[in-house]
Amino acid sequence: MAPMAAALILGLWLVAVSRAQQVPRPSLSLHPSQGVSLGDTVTLQCHLPQPAAWVRLYRYQNPTYIEQKDNVQDMAEFSLAGIKQADAVRYQCQYQGLEPAGTSEKSDPMELVVTDHRYPPPGISLSPREYVKMETNITIQCWNQEYRGTIFLHKDGHSAPIQHQEPDGGGTATFTLFGVTSADSGTYRCSYRVGGSYLLSSPFGDNVTLEVIPRPAPPRATSRSSETVQFQVSPGDSEGLTYAQLQAVTPSTHPPGTSTTPEPPIIYAEVGTQGPR
Ligand SMILES: *[C@@H]1O[C@H](CO)[C@@H](O)[C@H](O)[C@H]1NC(C)=O
Ligand SMILES: *[C@@H]1O[C@H](CO)[C@@H](O)[C@H](O)[C@H]1NC(C)=O
Repeated sequence: MAPMAAALILGLWLVAVSRAQQVPRPSLSLHPSQGVSLGDTVTLQCHLPQPAAWVRLYRYQNPTYIEQKDNVQDMAEFSLAGIKQADAVRYQCQYQGLEPAGTSEKSDPMELVVTDHRYPPPGISLSPREYVKMETNITIQCWNQEYRGTIFLHKDGHSAPIQHQEPDGGGTATFTLFGVTSADSGTYRCSYRVGGSYLLSSPFGDNVTLEVIPRPAPPRATSRSSETVQFQVSPGDSEGLTYAQLQAVTPSTHPPGTSTTPEPPIIYAEVGTQGPR
């Protein structure tokens, strides 16, 4: 038993030593990472875990590097100006480490998706409606009859598409958001990628906005807009019930003048009674 354990420990130690001698991989980021059009300039940043003698930028699966930067501390910046269709590919970077010395593996490939405005934007619709209760299933349909490429669903504030799908025979993709929560509130848009050797995308289509109404549950929970309304009530009716009308205040989350659709008011009321009269 003991020799086996020793062999196992030695084995783990050897694995650990060989890992330590490898130069850790760099990572590549694109700025901007989406919404790049033909003619734009894109900056590619290669982030290094240690100083490097050189850093090289590659097109994915192309053995010849595009550009090299020497003596880099922690980040090398490459600029691609006047983006052409042929630039819409995947990129990787690699470096020569100083301490530990050695050539790193290439970074994970990053896609430079370029918007080609010659393609019409896709259509979009949302059902059942814009304002829904928690846990509702929402369907967003996007269509593109002519070009059929993969359809992508984007949400504002997310740099990558949140879902993608091959359209059906009619060119429509149906995205479902199951049991939505307030985290699903936001603005959605679609685009599609035209097939072929380059990563070309249609422009974004129109947007749809989803607003998930939070549960009124725990009392005194902070709401987006709370106002205290005090009012006098008249004496109760024959059944001892008292009625009062509350003024609905529509909270606005948009800057003045930009809201096109009024939001439904939600009223939380706290009622104090003095018991039966
Ligand atoms: C939402 O979809 C799931 C899966 O299809 C289904 O089980 C569930 O009943 C649906 N919920 C509502 C509220 O329709
Ligand atoms: C969504 O589209 C409408 C109408 O096309 C536009 O007025 C509005 O500014 C858009 N919203 C966002 C967040 O882009």
